[in-house]
Amino acid sequence: MSGVVEPRVQVLLDPDWASGSLVDDVRRGLGGRPRRLPPKWLYDDVGAGLFDEITRLPEYYPTEAERAILAAHAAEVAEACDASTVVELGSGTSDKTRTLLDAFRDPGRSHGPVRRFVPVDVSDATLRQAATMLSERYPGMAVEAVVGDFTLHLAHLPRGDRRMVAFLGSTIGNFYLEERHAFLGALADSLEPGEWLLLGTDLVKPLDRLVAAYDDSAGVTERFIRNCLTVVNRELGADFDPGAFSYVPFWDPRMERVDMRLRAEEPQVVTVPGAEIVVELGTGEEICVEISTKFRPEGIAAELAEAGFAVERTWTDADDDFALTLARRT
Ligand code: AVJ
Repeated sequence: MSGVVEPRVQVLLDPDWASGSLVDDVRRGLGGRPRRLPPKWLYDDVGAGLFDEITRLPEYYPTEAERAILAAHAAEVAEACDASTVVELGSGTSDKTRTLLDAFRDPGRSHGPVRRFVPVDVSDATLRQAATMLSERYPGMAVEAVVGDFTLHLAHLPRGDRRMVAFLGSTIGNFYLEERHAFLGALADSLEPGEWLLLGTDLVKPLDRLVAAYDDSAGVTERFIRNCLTVVNRELGADFDPGAFSYVPFWDPRMERVDMRLRAEEPQVVTVPGAEIVVELGTGEEICVEISTKFRPEGIAAELAEAGFAVERTWTDADDDFALTLARRT
């Protein structure tokens, strides 16, 4: 096809990142108290499929809400910010990004069309597929994909050309408070003054809807969370009995987050050969698998300011369920 530039793919993850990093996480997480398994290990092929199913559940509003904001306001985002490179952290299949890129590539945009897109994701195969699709869809735009972990590789993102970093889907809500502050600080450090951040955040709302979104009647979220035990069994030869755990999601009003845990329903001794540990769990003992923090506009602005960003504009959907915040590195 004429005008199509082949995507470039830069691999920052070393080939056994997944195994090495999983071993560390399992040792630290299951060895310590409270017991934890980081949510990034939820997304093996089965988990990615279950998450996809979650985004289509009637109770799970965030994906649709963010999509609606982008559909209604992407042109305003593209107009409000003078970036010529768009970076997306955790880009996956880049489907929401297309709405954004369509706006940033609009010939009528007063800052000129975006010249370069940098999708960043840990999944090599998904990223390559998305990069090829995007190169074909946007001839004349360079695609420079980065296979990397956005908690490790922010300092290695391609530089120059006034960037806007998009971090969508309220993925930021999965970080614990300290991790979130560290992440925002590292992101600010990786950007030049005047560069941009577009942040998607789920907002605090009445409890019933929040809890229902993570405790759906079809039980998909429960399967998604429980799948982390299957991942540890497969990858590290562990002998977790997923059926011996019940799924306990609850709202933590102090931290304003949904906390998703697995509770041992009977005492168990679990061997994890790949991490050289044995985990003993008493009845009622819990493993914290994922949190999903919800935000308030004032809180977002304050945290961003502390990290070195100034909020330029915020868009929400009609029900004020979700926010997209455009902020500038100060
Ligand atoms: C991946 C952060 C968007 O916190 O809502 C959905 C993951 N976990 N249901 C979220 C998730 C259980 C999700 N994000």
